[in-house]
Amino acid sequence: MNARRLLQDATGLNITEADAQRAMRERMAQLGMADSHAYLRALAGSELSALTELVVVPESWLFRDPGAFSAATDFVQRRLALHPARPLRILSLPCASGEEPYSMAMALDMAGVAPPSVRIDAIDLSQVSVRRAIAGHYTRNAFRGADLAFRERYFMEQGGGYQLCDAIRARVGVRQGNLFELDTAALAGSYDIVFCRNLLIYFDDLAAHAAAKILHTLLADDGLLFAGYAEVPALCRHGFAALRIRGAFALEKAAPDPKRLAPPLRRAQAVRSVVPAQAEPQEAFFRAARHAPAPAAAQLDDALAQAWRRADGGDFAGAAALCHTLLATDPSSADAYFILGIVSECQGQVAAAADYWRRCVYLRPGHYEALCHLALLARQSGDAQVAEAYQERAARIYARRQTQGGAE
Ligand SMILES: C[S@@+](CC[C@H](N)C(=O)[O-])C[C@H]1O[C@@H](n2cnc3c(N)ncnc32)[C@H](O)[C@@H]1O
Repeated sequence: MNARRLLQDATGLNITEADAQRAMRERMAQLGMADSHAYLRALAGSELSALTELVVVPESWLFRDPGAFSAATDFVQRRLALHPARPLRILSLPCASGEEPYSMAMALDMAGVAPPSVRIDAIDLSQVSVRRAIAGHYTRNAFRGADLAFRERYFMEQGGGYQLCDAIRARVGVRQGNLFELDTAALAGSYDIVFCRNLLIYFDDLAAHAAAKILHTLLADDGLLFAGYAEVPALCRHGFAALRIRGAFALEKAAPDPKRLAPPLRRAQAVRSVVPAQAEPQEAFFRAARHAPAPAAAQLDDALAQAWRRADGGDFAGAAALCHTLLATDPSSADAYFILGIVSECQGQVAAAADYWRRCVYLRPGHYEALCHLALLARQSGDAQVAEAYQERAARIYARRQTQGGAE
């Protein structure tokens, strides 16, 4: 048995031989050991945990991909409106140093959802991260978004960093744990919402499959799972179906309970078609788009916001009509095509959706959400190569956004 194999079996992480060797050298130096065979013989229990600390990627920040927290809050509020006496349970796994579960707790607090209505559990493999999560103390690196109003409200400057207030810390129960060692029999169906973001990307196919099965067991039949964008295809292959929720990568169990709460964009399955019977010919579109005059930004934003509101409210025809009106004056509006793609897809008009999203990325090649939707569609239609290409483009945009602080 070598270190890589031991680490991989214990964590599911797809670690390279070079990373395992580097971690082993670092750990042996910490211990003042020179004999790698002796080290390997002792590699179990707490020593394996110590080595694991050197290969995990605990990267996280507060309100990372904030759309997920708004979507989860909406879900909680809708559920509580229906069943006020039924508290909800949320799981954040992996929680890293608590950034994700505390963001959820702050989002709920801002929405006025009282603590007894929702319990949040947070679990991570790394002892070091869990200790940090319990402490709730963060450096400036944890605050990367453009809107930091939450920092004023819930944090105090302390010790060169920021200390999270006790009221939010008390809403989250943090503990160390390994996804693959959870007591799934005891926890089956316990969670109404599971955040499992940016974990499966570090697994190989086998571990991702095993992880998806566990997540499926933990999630209630009418629950919501939030994943990272690159993890959606793997989850779709293993018992989940992707939901089109704006700004979030959310999934449900593939064979859901028919009584489940539908998120806004899936409500109106039976609404009549909003896609024009005859979409304009592709060449005409590309010609017109290339020569389009610059839009009046404020007007455009307002029209787009109205279209989103209609789509979110299930008025797909109204949303599409607004988009077409907008495109008649400004044929270069990538966002209008994006919304048309969403409302088409919500009605099962997959080919039309794909066409609109392709137009969207033609007009704005860095349109991350459209690239992700195209990747998913390609994956669902079995075109793995095309899916891969869109996914890679989306990943590049995503990486750029992180370094540029959210700007596209
Ligand atoms: C990149 S962080 C993701 C944190 C957060 N979910 C986010 O998206 O910002 C990945 C975390 O996964 C944890 N991890 C790795 N393998 C795990 C396992 N088998 N069970 C639980 N946590 C694990 C690591 O310790 C690390 O903190």
